[in-house]
Amino acid sequence: MKLKNFDLGNKLIVAPMADVSDAPFRKISKEYGAGLTYTPMVSAKGIVENDFHALQLFSFGRDEKPIGVQLLGNSPDYLAGAVQELKNYKPDVIDINCGCPVDKVTKHNLGAQLLDDPIYMGKLIESMVKVAGDISISVKLRLGKSDGKINILETSKIAQESGASFIIVHTRTKNKKYKEDPDWEWLRKVKDTVKIPVVGNGSLFTPQDIKRMIAETGIDSVMIARGALGNPFIFNRYNKYYETGEDSGEPTIEEVAEAAIKHSKLLAREYSDVIATIKARKNIVWYFKNLDGVMVFASKIMRAKNIEEQIEIIHEHIENLKQNFYSKDDRELIDQKFKERVLFWLDE
Ligand SMILES: Cc1cc2nc3c(=O)[nH]c(=O)nc-3n(C[C@H](O)[C@H](O)[C@H](O)COP(=O)(O)O)c2cc1C
Repeated sequence: MKLKNFDLGNKLIVAPMADVSDAPFRKISKEYGAGLTYTPMVSAKGIVENDFHALQLFSFGRDEKPIGVQLLGNSPDYLAGAVQELKNYKPDVIDINCGCPVDKVTKHNLGAQLLDDPIYMGKLIESMVKVAGDISISVKLRLGKSDGKINILETSKIAQESGASFIIVHTRTKNKKYKEDPDWEWLRKVKDTVKIPVVGNGSLFTPQDIKRMIAETGIDSVMIARGALGNPFIFNRYNKYYETGEDSGEPTIEEVAEAAIKHSKLLAREYSDVIATIKARKNIVWYFKNLDGVMVFASKIMRAKNIEEQIEIIHEHIENLKQNFYSKDDRELIDQKFKERVLFWLDE
């Protein structure tokens, strides 16, 4: 996928994810073959007002390029101001979030709420494009607010007319939960409607899913969110599958442990001990979600006092796995729980 300032090739895109797509997550994803990563959503107003939390959220290292920063905003002035400020740090893409369905976001007329007024949404995009210079502006959309209010063809067209370099389409409406299937069919219609590149998003969990979405809809690239949690392997698996037609298959226990430990060490380097330990919890459990004994493992990881202890528990767990210590988990049930609510172990 060619953009105004760089060529993504056939590489995959890591979704913006609040509380997840921080620098360690992005670095692991890149190391395993992702082409472009995004920061979590950051308030445009926060950036303009130099709010410390906002500055932390969008910070990235030069070695992370190409990288996108996602903005949350509904004021042309703040969005333009944030783009102007971000230019100092040279991200490759700046996105506007028009898809977040969470109440605490939409009640402030942000995120998916912007879908209700496509003309105004276009003004917001224009305000960003006007100051962006070389930086690509992307727009992350949903199909519409609800089944009765699908307006993705209109919002896509407006995004294009307003100067967006590409659009990302999460193939659900704002009202749809993860347990409801995405509707990829719309991607083909969007492709027929606009000339700018279209990125498809929604329930991509395997290299085969990715291949099928691209083949069925003709989109230019894909964005992956839940499918990348504890699973950076999806990127190199797909890249190899794309090049050779062969899927290397699920990672071995050792490969899973290696990635989980590497991720934990990156967190330890990035944050204070306490914060790194907390952030490592969910990431480590995600790595082991497809292996037996995950609930026992999760409860131990949750109780560990620091990263070193978490790493010891990982080593113990892989020994147990190798010796078939655990009874067989109900794979389908855990998978379904994970997909519906990523912090699946909290259901118990
Ligand atoms: C933990 C989590 C945090 C998310 N945070 C954001 C966000 O900050 N901005 C955004 O546009 N979408 C966010 N999303 C939505 C994803 O980017 C993506 O559109 C959605 O999960 C569908 O993709 P998937 O089926 O690959 O998970 C988040 C999703 C998850 C699971």
